[in-house]
Amino acid sequence: MKPRAVIVAMLAALACAAASQAQADDAIRARQDFVLNCMGCHTADGSGIPGKVPALRESLGHFVSLPEGRTFVMRVPGAANSALNDAELANVLNWLLATMNEQSRPASFRPYTAEEIAAHRRPALTDVARTRTKLVKELQENGVNAVPEHY
Ligand code: HEC
Repeated sequence: MKPRAVIVAMLAALACAAASQAQADDAIRARQDFVLNCMGCHTADGSGIPGKVPALRESLGHFVSLPEGRTFVMRVPGAANSALNDAELANVLNWLLATMNEQSRPASFRPYTAEEIAAHRRPALTDVARTRTKLVKELQENGVNAVPEHY
């Protein structure tokens, strides 16, 4: 390898390492934000509380497959009204999709961005149950029965 090629290869490796470090930092921050802002209700592993709080596991992945479902996830009161800023909420939702929704997340899923969250999180939904029932029905019409109507 010519010296210049070696330098280019080293720079590429460094850029890669920096990018994966940034991803690791995002994941650590997301976990902390989840623990402080969501876990109290949704439980540590996101399985929720029967009869009271829905699970966040392998359901968000299905919701985000529908345009209205993607918005629903940002606008449920627990997310929309949380103390998290737009970038932090985007990071937590992306982390939930990456760690608790690997099976259900569509291959075409584009990560949430702070800009998207800012544009859509408010006003928080007031008719959560009605919106959710409509989405679950739409999923069922698409052959997806994995998201329970009642939790
Ligand atoms: C005070 C308890 C509480 C906290 C804290 C909370 N949630 Fe929730 N969450 C709920 C309840 C209850 C629901 C059911 C809908 C409703 O009544 O708002 C829900 C629904 C959801 C849903 C829709 C899931 C579905 O299947 O309908 C998502 C997504 C969600 N929460 C994400 C979050 C995130 C992300 C956080 C943290 C930033 C969070 N929640 C914090 C109680 C909470």
